[in-house]
Amino acid sequence: MIHEPTENEKLSAIMVIFGGTGDLTHRKLMPALYNLVVDSLLPGHFAIVSVGRREWHHQQYREEVLRSLNKYSRNKTDQKYWDKLSELIYYYHFDFTDLDGYARLREYPSGAANLLIIYRSPCVHGAGQKL
Ligand SMILES: NC(=O)c1ccc[n+]([C@@H]2O[C@H](COP(=O)([O-])OP(=O)(O)OC[C@H]3O[C@@H](n4cnc5c(N)ncnc54)[C@H](OP(=O)(O)O)[C@@H]3O)[C@@H](O)[C@H]2O)c1
Repeated sequence: MIHEPTENEKLSAIMVIFGGTGDLTHRKLMPALYNLVVDSLLPGHFAIVSVGRREWHHQQYREEVLRSLNKYSRNKTDQKYWDKLSELIYYYHFDFTDLDGYARLREYPSGAANLLIIYRSPCVHGAGQKL
């Protein structure tokens, strides 16, 4: 039987989180994204790029996210759903006062129709508009 893609599966988006190592991301955003994976509500082509100043690699960041999910998610973390979420997550180390860093952001997964940016605070709006 041929699987007809749902409306969600036809969508594509990249979500860039400024403040990816912060409390809001770990306590609220990642558990919310995990629940969207469980409910199959994420777009078919989706990536999360988390920005922070800590010198972490993708895998190190993913391990931190898993630790937070185990701590804060209202549902027990299921390995099957975590595997799906973790492969969507990228970590990008840069200080968002460094304007060159925005150009390097373009090297991350591309081709998505929508770019959703979550700002840490209103003070970075000016810099973000240069993307
Ligand atoms: N926590 C919550 O539950 C909550 C709820 C509602 C609203 N908020 C709001 O959400 C915002 C973030 O709160 P938070 O609790 O997540 O703060 P936080 O724990 O202090 O995290 C701040 C984040 O911003 C990053 N950051 C700061 N300056 C940076 C720079 N120059 N370049 C790159 N990254 C930088 C930090 O990266 P590094 O640590 O890697 O340097 C860290 O990821 C605040 O405006 C807060 O009022 C938070």
